[in-house]
Amino acid sequence: MKIIVINGPNLQLLGSRKPEIYGSETLESIQKHLEAVAKELKVDIGFFQSNSEGEIVDLVGSSQKDGVTGIVINPAAYTHTSVAIHDALESAGTPAIEVHISNIYKREEFRRKSLTASACVGQIAGLGTDGYEWALRALVNHLKKQK
Ligand code: DQA
Repeated sequence: MKIIVINGPNLQLLGSRKPEIYGSETLESIQKHLEAVAKELKVDIGFFQSNSEGEIVDLVGSSQKDGVTGIVINPAAYTHTSVAIHDALESAGTPAIEVHISNIYKREEFRRKSLTASACVGQIAGLGTDGYEWALRALVNHLKKQK
């Protein structure tokens, strides 16, 4: 199994960006932790962060061709705006789980709607950066059941 973890705009700033909301862990340390979890689960893992909607669309769109079996994605602000990422997830045919560090349903009105979640297997929100680990574990369980 090959899993990719995609992080959208501004998530490269984790650690210093609004720690009261997103915590103090950096993206690098989240990735290190996920590498250890992936090793335990015996799956390959890759990481990608972009501030550009088109790059995320391209990556999701080429996932099948690239041999990717599952996607963990935090589309960040694009969650609330991107029909293009929704459509890419829907067309790619690669199962995805959406992650949000914060509970988007408890925040500003404009964050309470996800355009991308309906193209995913499920969504994890509000569990802090631990949510990435739960998403990875849930995705691997889901993929095993599909086999
Ligand atoms: C976020 C929530 C989004 O509303 C926000 O734009 C982000 C991060 C989260 O992980 O909680 O950048 O996706």
